Amino acid sequence: MPDIQRVGVCGIGLMGSGIAQVSAMAGFNVTVLEADRTDPPMPASAILEKGLAAIKKSLDKFVEKGTLQADDRDATMARLKPATNIADLRNCDLVIEAIIEHMPAKKELFKKLDGLLPPHAIICSNTSSLCVIEMAAATKRPKQVAGLHFFNPVPLMKLVEVVKTIVTSQETIDALFWFAQKVGKKPILAQDTPGFIVNRLLVPYLLYAIRMYESGLASKEDIDEGMKLGCGHPMGPLTLLDFVGLDTTYYIAEIMFDEFKDPLMAPPPLLKRMVLAGHYGRKSGKGFYDYS
Ligand code: CAA
Ligand code: NAD
Repeated sequence: MPDIQRVGVCGIGLMGSGIAQVSAMAGFNVTVLEADRTDPPMPASAILEKGLAAIKKSLDKFVEKGTLQADDRDATMARLKPATNIADLRNCDLVIEAIIEHMPAKKELFKKLDGLLPPHAIICSNTSSLCVIEMAAATKRPKQVAGLHFFNPVPLMKLVEVVKTIVTSQETIDALFWFAQKVGKKPILAQDTPGFIVNRLLVPYLLYAIRMYESGLASKEDIDEGMKLGCGHPMGPLTLLDFVGLDTTYYIAEIMFDEFKDPLMAPPPLLKRMVLAGHYGRKSGKGFYDYS
């Protein structure tokens, strides 16, 4: 059994909050790190408070449904420790990074974590599309670096992609399969190529839906209804884009286009303009639809 008891999660946004939640639900002690946000400005302490409130709300839903006892919800919350100083992660056996989809920020964080964590610790990224080996190369433990790609909403989606770089050790992969199963997920093995398995298929589809809407081929409601009722998808593509975050999708598309030069992966002009306007989807209150 791998030596993983203390888990660190960097970022308590959409994904980090879910990853911290399922880890704490599985009995791990979890330290969640945040940093001050500049755009829009928000202190780390306020972001942590908001993230912990989102976790509590999700746990409350499980309690309401009768799939979680109130005592277990309280014990889960007690296992979550907010942190604004990276030094608080120093005893972690596994750290999962879920910060912004931006390579320089991720590399800087990986380098700091590497200097701090015990030698046996594994560092993972929840990146959707970035090259994991580039983050591994910022550390002195590249064999203990991998991708661990969860899906949104983490408490409900069953899949985790375990991403093996060309140097990740088999021991690390085995430990991450063990961890993914421990937090109730089905792990699948993916290679370190942009978009891995799921986003390589999903992102061009989502971008194409924006192009259809942008060129006036159909209304946003009809595009969404079409895919929901015609293909049995739980959400139409434009609703799903709002759910994932238009900013995150834009970064992912740029990264995938940069690697493959496939026009289907290029961010459509409308996506760029919506991101520039701060229309990030549900998290900002406005995207293709209004959530205010
Ligand atoms: N925590 C706990 N429970 C939750 C919850 C949460 N965060 N969110 C919703 N629920 C519960 C609701 O209370 C509800 O419970 P009941 O059935 O008992 O009422 C149930 O889950 C279903 O929720 P809703 O009725 O609100 O909505 P829904 O039926 O549409 O289901 C959904 C929600 C599971 C999100 C579904 O719409 C879905 O699967 N959507 C697609 C999600 C998807 O494709 N995710 C992948 C995105 S891509 C990605 O993540 C990768 C990347 O790198 C970008
Ligand atoms: P988000 O914007 O909701 O959250 C990112 C969080 O990281 C923010 O709270 C931000 O304050 C924090 N942060 C930024 N820099 C930090 C630092 N140096 N230290 C600590 N915290 C920092 O983004 P998200 O949607 O949760 O995405 C996070 C990662 O997960 C990205 O790599 C993204 O590609 C990936 N991902 C996203 C989805 C999705 O559906 N949104 C799905 C799977 C994977």
